[in-house]
Amino acid sequence: MESSSLLTVVLVGAFLWISAIHADSKDDGKVLCTCENGKGTCVNGTCKGDICFYSWVHGHEERGCFSKVYYMEQCFSKFDRLFMHCCREYLCNAFTTPPPNINGEPTTTPPELSRPELWITLSLLLLITTASMCGLVLFLRFRRAHGRLRNDVHGDRDVTMLKVPDGDDPTYGDIFDEFCTSGSGTGLPYLVQRTMARQISLVQCVGKGRYGEVWRGTWMGESVAVKIFSSRDEQSWFRETEIYNTVQLRHDNILGFIASDMTSKNSSTQLWLVTHFHELGSLYDFLQYSSLEPESCLRMCLSVACGLVHLHTEIVSSQEKPAIAHRDLKSRNILVKRNGQCCIADLGLAVIHSQSHDYLDVGNNPRVGTKRYMAPEVLDETIRMDVFESYKQTDIWALGLVFWEISRRTIVNGIVEEYCPPFFDMVPLDPSFEEMKKVVCVDQHKPSLHNRLHSHPILSAIAKIMKECWYQSPPARLTALRVRKTLSKLDHDSDFSTEKLKRDI
Ligand code: ADE
Repeated sequence: MESSSLLTVVLVGAFLWISAIHADSKDDGKVLCTCENGKGTCVNGTCKGDICFYSWVHGHEERGCFSKVYYMEQCFSKFDRLFMHCCREYLCNAFTTPPPNINGEPTTTPPELSRPELWITLSLLLLITTASMCGLVLFLRFRRAHGRLRNDVHGDRDVTMLKVPDGDDPTYGDIFDEFCTSGSGTGLPYLVQRTMARQISLVQCVGKGRYGEVWRGTWMGESVAVKIFSSRDEQSWFRETEIYNTVQLRHDNILGFIASDMTSKNSSTQLWLVTHFHELGSLYDFLQYSSLEPESCLRMCLSVACGLVHLHTEIVSSQEKPAIAHRDLKSRNILVKRNGQCCIADLGLAVIHSQSHDYLDVGNNPRVGTKRYMAPEVLDETIRMDVFESYKQTDIWALGLVFWEISRRTIVNGIVEEYCPPFFDMVPLDPSFEEMKKVVCVDQHKPSLHNRLHSHPILSAIAKIMKECWYQSPPARLTALRVRKTLSKLDHDSDFSTEKLKRDI
């Protein structure tokens, strides 16, 4: 960016920021804006907010208002086929139109451009730009094809992630490529998320619970999952939206985020979280009807451990990421991918910690974790809530229970157990806090492990890990990193012995 435009951005930013802060101290601090195409958010063609905007995204025009928290990210979004104008005066966005060249239309020629040297310079510039663009397109194509090849080699058959556009419609992968490599790296700009969310058609409800509903939807012909939060769980939507938009969370074993959207419908607020869709559903659903070979059990357990390590780890390089503890890890919050790996979902209760920036953010969600999966220190309320490590240790307790659910459904010596939730034989369905506390803290029961597990090298190692996730004393438990390392080694060793077996035959 040129220094003059940088200066303009800084000055306009400072102006908007100062006026937004100033607005807090007068009246309700809001300005009346023209509102069009904002679905349910407009009242009689107007809305009130900190900032008025006019946006033009891929031909979709919108006028409305938004909160000052978005202005830095939104008002200075500069992308192909996206025009954004922000202002803070009464109805100041009413007559804004996109610049004439937004679709590549020629602008009027200034008189100096008739000089031949200028024409030559411009032609050269155009040539260099075109060559760079072609180079970039070729590079991206190569990288995509290479990535696909690499996934094939590693047996990753998650085809929803690998789809190439066959027509002119972009895939959400294309949209991410366009925006996320040039932006903050945490996701799509808020207005693009909103535009995408509003282009989704809901197809089928695939889950319903206290949290709300999950739907399969389609966006430009691709399946997406839409979680519609119940109004009483709005804090979970805020938290998950905040985390996905501020933390770089792209990882194979963390559910892929696409967009978040808030609309009002018949005077009630609708909260959407749009993510990748995994047709095999949750691990809980999957285990009801599937049994596993020990190698598949290992692959699943390892993938969950990888996801948890990514969450629990703070990264301090340029790809900075705080540490995150999940606080509601369970088989219903884990999704099964087509390649046999899992990904962790639902960050609505997560806590964030950064040692380098010296903060612990526990959020303000009144929700608590799932009682059945609560660690003893949560049930007897001795957990040190001011220490981040404590939350990671409760995730490890729950991780052991998830491994236990998977291992019950694993066939060893021709024997497999039916699906049962942890502590099924000790507490009723929907147990109370007191019932769980009696079993887990007073009687110190642990889920029982079937004898067959001890006769298989993979399952006996996983059983040992489970036991070490269930120590009553939180610091004695394994860390996610240790679990991942042990399982990775087991995976390499079992690959090695299979290869050896093949060679020997
Ligand atoms: N159930 C909950 N989230 C889901 C998702 N992302 N894909 C499929 N089923 C789900």
